[in-house]
Amino acid sequence: MNPPPDIRASRNPSLPAGPQLLRRVLSGKAFKTSTAEFLLRNAREYGDLVHFTALNRNVYQINHPDLIADFFLKDAPNHHRNLVMQAGRQVLGHGLLTSEEPLHMRQRRLAQPAFLRDRIAAYAEVIGSQTETLTARWKPGVADLHPEMLELALRIVGKCLFNLDALDDVDAVASAVDAFMNFMPLSFLPFSKQIQQLPIPSMKRLRDGKAFLDRLIYGMIAERRKDPVDRGDLLSMLLASTDSEDATAMSDQQVHDECITIILAGHETTANALSFALHLIAHHPDVQQRLHAEAVAVLADRAPTAADYPRLPYANAVFSEALRLYPPVWVTARTCAREYEIAGFKIPVGASILAPQYVVHRDPRYWDQPDELNPDRFSPDAKASRPRYAFYPFAGGSRQCIGEGLAWMEGTFVLALVARDWKLIPLPGSNAIPEAVPAISLRPKGGVRLHIERR
Ligand code: HEM
Repeated sequence: MNPPPDIRASRNPSLPAGPQLLRRVLSGKAFKTSTAEFLLRNAREYGDLVHFTALNRNVYQINHPDLIADFFLKDAPNHHRNLVMQAGRQVLGHGLLTSEEPLHMRQRRLAQPAFLRDRIAAYAEVIGSQTETLTARWKPGVADLHPEMLELALRIVGKCLFNLDALDDVDAVASAVDAFMNFMPLSFLPFSKQIQQLPIPSMKRLRDGKAFLDRLIYGMIAERRKDPVDRGDLLSMLLASTDSEDATAMSDQQVHDECITIILAGHETTANALSFALHLIAHHPDVQQRLHAEAVAVLADRAPTAADYPRLPYANAVFSEALRLYPPVWVTARTCAREYEIAGFKIPVGASILAPQYVVHRDPRYWDQPDELNPDRFSPDAKASRPRYAFYPFAGGSRQCIGEGLAWMEGTFVLALVARDWKLIPLPGSNAIPEAVPAISLRPKGGVRLHIERR
């Protein structure tokens, strides 16, 4: 079933095949499409292991599920965090996303209980009530649902993990997170610390955002330290935890870094996937109708509980298709820390290795008509017939997304609730294929403007 990797050598026998970026730059071709499309074309033209150089650095792109499995499982000890994550420590500190071993494993052990199955079940009610509060204020007519999804995902993370009831300053948090995301690609430039101090609007927004989030998070920590009752959320867990191996507690700084990481990692990703999903269902009335029918049959007019999750397989499949076509983390990247081999080719220390979700999720060997929306690909039989790493929106191995369970429940319930209560209609002349911007996460370009009607 799983074809072996298609490995092609280049004229230089020590390197796999790949594009000559310099030639493309000189011919003006390199930047005509997005980076995600560039990686997709590489796979089609050069096979399952592609080499190119960018900014004087060796880059190896892997495009086959077996190679992806090795990347996450067998080869993980040979990897460091990628350059963007390393530089991202300037804004995120040393939280789960950016830290290296052994700190990462210790932090992961301490945070994990907040994401276990019984905890996630308790989050179901929050997802339902936050979605209903948000959609209750919607008015029939034209609306951009992308900022709505960002706000919703932020409120859900705030309530589930930090017990923040009213995120009164939701705009300030959203603006800070946006400024962080925009700065991340710049953070690995030389003089990035000096860039942060520049008197220009984007850097002022970054500085203000950082100061605002620091105040919010250190404020929450100080309040909880004064009154250390267990509120059953992630923050209580982080503050109360002592490591089973060395019996030390987390410093305020470490708790802060974990909180900021979770806020950042846990809201834009889910919101982007939901936004793409809403765009797609607006343009596929048949899919929207099935989604609506399932939601009415299962939920009638009540809010979902954890027991409903397995009873909404179509909503789950629609969310899966959005994650397949528009994976919020569209490429997973690592830096080679110790020389090793991929398919017989030596990977030098310092090289970048890319495992691009955007490419593998559209590989015609595993996905018939890969660019088409078809939630039936996620029926149990179809899922079982594909290799594990043909679909990996949440990555894998020891760095697999810690919030995956929450994201699945959130994506499934929000789609079901919106489709139950609202009809989404595309605006005249709008494109059925959403335009995606591959920033740090894959974002819908220009938001998701739709006509909405109450059912
Ligand atoms: C659709 C939504 C989401 C997607 C597609 C997603 C995807 C990912 C991916 C691919 C990674 C691995 C990154 C890497 O290896 O470099 C990751 C890591 C992570 N995600 Fe998510 N994520 C989502 C939602 C969430 C949520 C809801 C939370 C928390 C509330 C969260 C928190 C994290 C954290 C803390 C990490 C770092 C884990 C570690 O290295 O141990 N994510 N996510």
